[in-house]
Amino acid sequence: MLRLYRKPNKGLMGVDISSTSVKVLELSVKSGRYWVESYALVPLSEGSVVEKNILNPEAVGDSLERAINLANTQTVNAALAIPTSMVITKIIEMDADMTSDEREVQIRMDAEQYIPFPLDEASLDFEVIPDRLSNPNRVNVLLVATRIENIEARSEVLELAGLSPKIADVESFALENAFKVFADTLPMGVKTVGILDIGHSMTTLSVMQNNKVIYTREQVFGGKQLTQEIQNRYGLSFEEAGRAKKTRALPDDYDIEVLEPFLEAVVQQAARSLQFFFSSSQFNEIDHILLAGGNANIPGLAKLLQQKLGYRVTIANPFLQMGFSPQIDIKKIENDASSLLVACGLALRSFD
Ligand SMILES: Nc1ncnc2c1ncn2[C@@H]1O[C@H](COP(=O)(O)OP(=O)(O)OP(=O)(O)O)[C@@H](O)[C@H]1O
Ligand SMILES: [Mg+2]
Repeated sequence: MLRLYRKPNKGLMGVDISSTSVKVLELSVKSGRYWVESYALVPLSEGSVVEKNILNPEAVGDSLERAINLANTQTVNAALAIPTSMVITKIIEMDADMTSDEREVQIRMDAEQYIPFPLDEASLDFEVIPDRLSNPNRVNVLLVATRIENIEARSEVLELAGLSPKIADVESFALENAFKVFADTLPMGVKTVGILDIGHSMTTLSVMQNNKVIYTREQVFGGKQLTQEIQNRYGLSFEEAGRAKKTRALPDDYDIEVLEPFLEAVVQQAARSLQFFFSSSQFNEIDHILLAGGNANIPGLAKLLQQKLGYRVTIANPFLQMGFSPQIDIKKIENDASSLLVACGLALRSFD
């Protein structure tokens, strides 16, 4: 599997830094089954991470440290995720008959063609894809690259919290890894699955085809819009509005005046995301949509999307077939499950 950066490791904690929270999660394998050993989700103060850029590493490091203490984790070794939009992936055709070292030299020589920044600022990895090409002497190679500074910004935060970063993965690959462990809970015959992650500032559509990620696109749209609308209308602070939206402790006109227009915007955004996918691929249909991200918790949203889009929509839960250690609050993790896909995919790297 691809990693932008790696050291030998065993147990790994998945650490997902998003714009509203840090999430940590540890898994184990017992009796042929995955178990969640520890997990925590700690909110970040507004502005610490903006559209996936870490603006305040100290604040994020503090929240991460709190998450580790809350979760009561077993290891300091961690896997982190680089946002997909910060990564370049490219499929290149090469000679089949090359050693890994020869391939690396060749890729580095040609990399300028593929990477729009200086090579000495890049972290690269590559993997031969096991597809058969019409010419048996050639193979496809998947190249992934990011700026070293993207890895360093995240590693720094982990180190501030006393962790030792061992793997930097790409967010979309972590998602794919998480998807694989619960893909068999989807109805039979489902092959093309859209994972629609509606977060705080971003909405990401990722498409899985036969358990492989084939498409990812981020749009600037999310729950932040709803929080801001609540703030403006009812004169609340950002934090108050964020809380009120979950507890629903809001005036009577909230549903019709605020929530419904937001839900309409979500439907439009989802339809647009799908349209982008269809127009940039050979697909014009998908079999199923998994709703992910914090907004998946809005009651009735999955059903509304199913009605309006005409595809089966369910809420993503990577833990459907997993066990939970006694220290896990099962009710809480069920609530957070749709936001924990990336953390889960990262933690699964322990078992590569
Ligand atoms: N029960 C709920 N009702 C309404 N909104 C909710 C609920 N639970 C969470 N949210 C919203 O979901 C968003 C957080 O979701 P998530 O954790 O997926 O975002 P994120 O990954 O931090 O953001 P981004 O993906 O933009 O970086 C926030 O806007 C939050 O207010
Ligand atoms: Mg997110």
